[in-house]
Amino acid sequence: MAVRSIVWFFLVMAAVSPFSVTSLNAHEGATGIVKERMDLMVSLRQTMKALSGMIRADERPDNAALIDAATRISEHGKQMQLLFPTGSMEAPSVARPEIWTDRRQFNAMADTLGREAQSLIEIVRSGDRERLMPQFRRVGASCSACHKSFRSKKGS
Ligand code: HEC
Repeated sequence: MAVRSIVWFFLVMAAVSPFSVTSLNAHEGATGIVKERMDLMVSLRQTMKALSGMIRADERPDNAALIDAATRISEHGKQMQLLFPTGSMEAPSVARPEIWTDRRQFNAMADTLGREAQSLIEIVRSGDRERLMPQFRRVGASCSACHKSFRSKKGS
């Protein structure tokens, strides 16, 4: 319920903001819930980049920062399910209609993202650095798996 009110808050903000249609991303022109989820996806990509940089860095990784980033990804796994209401695929959305005919699978893939991010947090806590990168890759694989099934054009 709380997440839903946050979503509505952003929808209202997007509607009243004079800058709501201005965008420097590939999703130029997107409005409403489509813009909302594209923004969320772009922030996921940024978080993944930050995580990869931290994990690759030679020095000892900052566990608090790693956990913070992985937590955001895990929470977005839950949040994104609310950002695809039935039939919301107006341009420039590249969401595929299968999201709504195969909703259970879509939600399961969003849950998998959350779970993989959660495992990453556990590995950070365990201090086992060897397992950080393989688990980070699993998180990335859960992004790609969903894109492959439910997003047209642009693979990632
Ligand atoms: C459960 C399915 C699912 C998962 C998991 C998922 N995505 Fe997406 N993603 C989508 C869909 C569907 C779109 C297309 C949305 C649209 O165009 O309306 C998308 C779009 C995107 C975009 C393009 C946004 C734009 O502005 O055009 C990026 C970047 C992205 N995702 C990154 C990620 C990253 C990084 C992860 C993992 C951390 C991730 N996604 C996980 C389904 C998913």
